[in-house]
Amino acid sequence: MDSIAFYLLLLFSITAVAIPPTSSAATIGVTYSTPGSISDSVQLSPDKIAEKIVSMKIPAVRLLDSNPAMIRAFAYTNVSLFLSVPNPLVPLLASNRSLAMRWVYRHVLPFYPRTKISVISVGNDAISYSPDVSPFLLRAMQNVHLSLTDLRIYKISVSTTFSFFNIVPTAFPPSAAQFQQPNGEVIIRPILQFLERTNSSFLINLYPYNIYRSNFPIPIGFALFEETPFNFRDDLTTGVRYRNLFDMMVDAVISSMAVMGHENLPLIVAETGWPSSGIDAGEVDATMLYSEMFLRALLTHLRSGSGTPLRKEGVSEVYVFELVEKEAKQGIRNWGLLHHNMTSKYSFEFSDGGETRRFKELLIGFVVEVVMLYLLM
Ligand SMILES: *[C@@H]1O[C@H](CO)[C@@H](O)[C@H](O)[C@H]1NC(C)=O
Ligand SMILES: *[C@@H]1O[C@H](CO)[C@@H](O)[C@H](O)[C@H]1NC(C)=O
Ligand SMILES: *[C@@H]1O[C@H](CO)[C@@H](O)[C@H](O)[C@H]1NC(C)=O
Ligand SMILES: *[C@@H]1O[C@H](CO)[C@@H](O)[C@H](O)[C@H]1NC(C)=O
Repeated sequence: MDSIAFYLLLLFSITAVAIPPTSSAATIGVTYSTPGSISDSVQLSPDKIAEKIVSMKIPAVRLLDSNPAMIRAFAYTNVSLFLSVPNPLVPLLASNRSLAMRWVYRHVLPFYPRTKISVISVGNDAISYSPDVSPFLLRAMQNVHLSLTDLRIYKISVSTTFSFFNIVPTAFPPSAAQFQQPNGEVIIRPILQFLERTNSSFLINLYPYNIYRSNFPIPIGFALFEETPFNFRDDLTTGVRYRNLFDMMVDAVISSMAVMGHENLPLIVAETGWPSSGIDAGEVDATMLYSEMFLRALLTHLRSGSGTPLRKEGVSEVYVFELVEKEAKQGIRNWGLLHHNMTSKYSFEFSDGGETRRFKELLIGFVVEVVMLYLLM
């Protein structure tokens, strides 16, 4: 074999092996909150929960009740944590900086960085919380942020979580979406400025299930990511075709941020999911089957790294609501991926399949080399 052929061969095998991953796929995690009543048969200690999450290869967890023992249980695990400040604390942390510092002393300082804490959400859907605490959000976020920087902690971002349903009045067409007023101007705009300045993400609870249920004339397949020829909606303003409701809602949020000049803020879906049982017989689409279809299709869609029409890198993180079902009883809406006794409702795979991809790339590289050898010798 002459040297030109050799270099050609080398070049081909390198390019084959070094196929870049299909852009940046989102990190997919779950939400966890302590179940209402704990069944006798199972010990749901923080260590057991952390162990379960590690064994399921879930890379990120949003703790809805940020219990310090739970934060400690994730030390040295590589699982990144999304912590939450409960709504009732928001006005207190807003008005008193030393209380914000105290919250950080209790929930962050003893555990960080052994426990990977990535983001703190000050409040969750505070706009719908009664009494309304949203006027205090920004001050509370600033105080938590200042407490962290006083302690020289710069890598934890501080934000707050909104709920799509309560801030974006219409999802369609996505290009025409705007934040609901007056909250958009009064509450959200200053928060977007804070997020931009502190390099933080916009956090949103986003449930295709809720939009689908609210009389929006869409086929269920569109909400469940089904790929059939009829499952699409065209945004006539942008000429963009949407093939699932999730992407449409994400783009509605991006358009709403764009109206305020902040279309480049990273977006984290702080909650999404599909319930496996409803409150009553009228909730016909809350079934185990649809819940499973939604989860699997969501995982596949996010891993494809294809993003959304308005944002090619897509959302940066998504948290599936929720890991363990709250109560083992009828008549409540159940979202858990696991039964109350910690067994899976259906099979799914959280690990990102990176190994399969690497294996495929190596295989392609090998095949190309063999073919080249035949051609060149
Ligand atoms: C955590 O991640 C680092 C870097 O990827 C790796 O070296 C380490 O083994 C991981 N630790 C655990 C407990 O998985
Ligand atoms: C702030 O909270 C601290 C600690 O609870 C308390 O000692 C202090 O009096 C509070 N300050 C104000 C202005 O309320
Ligand atoms: C913001 O984040 C980017 C990317 O993670 C980083 O390069 C940049 O230094 C950060 N800026 C600030 C002000 O922290
Ligand atoms: C766990 O709970 C589910 C639902 O209640 C039940 O079907 C299953 O048999 C239970 N598994 C074990 C091992 O107890």
